[in-house]
Amino acid sequence: MKALMISKDSLLHAEVAAQGSARLPAVQLVASRQGLRDAVERPVPDAPELVILDASDEAAEWELVDRLARQYPNASFILLTREAQQELLIRAMRAGMREVLQLPLVHRAFHEAMDRIEIESGVTRMRDGKVLAFIACKGGSGATFLATNFGYALAALAEKKVLLIDLHGQFGDATLYVSDQKPTMTLSDICGQITRMDGAFLESCLVHVAPGFGVLAAADDPSQAVDMKPEHMDVILRVARQHYDYIVLDVGRQIDALSLRALDSADTIYPVLQLALPDIRDGRRLIDIFRSLGYAVDRIRLIVNRYQKGGKLRLADLEHALGADVVHTVPNDYVSATDSVNQGIPVLQLSRSSPVARSLADLVELVTERRVSEAKSLFDRLFGRSAAEQ
Ligand SMILES: Nc1ncnc2c1ncn2[C@@H]1O[C@H](COP(=O)(O)OP(=O)(O)OP(=O)(O)O)[C@@H](O)[C@H]1O
Ligand SMILES: [Mg+2]
Repeated sequence: MKALMISKDSLLHAEVAAQGSARLPAVQLVASRQGLRDAVERPVPDAPELVILDASDEAAEWELVDRLARQYPNASFILLTREAQQELLIRAMRAGMREVLQLPLVHRAFHEAMDRIEIESGVTRMRDGKVLAFIACKGGSGATFLATNFGYALAALAEKKVLLIDLHGQFGDATLYVSDQKPTMTLSDICGQITRMDGAFLESCLVHVAPGFGVLAAADDPSQAVDMKPEHMDVILRVARQHYDYIVLDVGRQIDALSLRALDSADTIYPVLQLALPDIRDGRRLIDIFRSLGYAVDRIRLIVNRYQKGGKLRLADLEHALGADVVHTVPNDYVSATDSVNQGIPVLQLSRSSPVARSLADLVELVTERRVSEAKSLFDRLFGRSAAEQ
């Protein structure tokens, strides 16, 4: 999205430029003006789609706001103010400027405003997102760790727009694996307000972990779960598919009516297990349930977590016992995984070259079906190598 930035503040300009360029699609500051008068007197020939106006240093020439709005009738506007300037706000509202953000800039608020603008202006194309469900065969298999970190990896490495939904009926904690923010809205809040459901509403309910990656937290009060109906899941996933490239589900061990509906419509189900007999036994039960539900075998792809070569049990034994293919193994990497979980920082961000981070990058390539040449650049992004260093 091509944007005009009106501000005297070069630091703010740089901050908005950095945040904007991290978005997908990027917000590019293609022109800048020093103030309202400068902007009105020197119109940008190639009309911007977005105008970001820093009104904190403006003298009270608010009539210029109307002129600016008329100058770019098709643009969306974001107004940045330091304190509530009432007259300006009234003028801006009348001129059709709806997004007002307080300075200093809160990045999350900026991205939320941009999300709303993109959806309203139709910049965000309707997507056809895929639903990928991670489900632990046994408690502690690592399904939440893998789902959250894989979601982050998809957004960070493959530049996909990703939503993670925590479907744990009780004690859902997916948000904490990758963020220190406290969710303000949860899955049960959305179900309670399902008539409001659209892309902007869904986006506003997420914990924004990184550009392109948001997490919808689990219901924190199990007593609220009664208000969540399978039909709600249909609505949420339908809207989510339109607005995200991938919807990653952290299903938790207890399958209930809600998570069952989500599994029904999942494109791929990844049962996560470790290569040990108790896991294989529980995995077998889970696969049997899926079979009895009529799920096609090719929708079910096993992920072996904490895999160590050379054990008594082989991957082939597991595949034979469960009658499903192992698509991926994730190495046992206690230090990196524990550090990441304890700090609530994605492992890719914390220990980029760790075995588990590399394995997640491989899984991204597998799922997005990137070719080798593109895959190479994925690794370069991950390990920060420039072309000259190769
Ligand atoms: N590849 C790995 N190497 C080392 N440790 C790991 C790995 N994957 C996950 N872990 C550790 O295993 C622990 C349990 O993982 P996680 O909470 O994701 O399991 P879960 O399957 O979601 O369990 P639950 O049934 O409680 O939902 C985490 O604390 C994490 O640090
Ligand atoms: Mg879990």
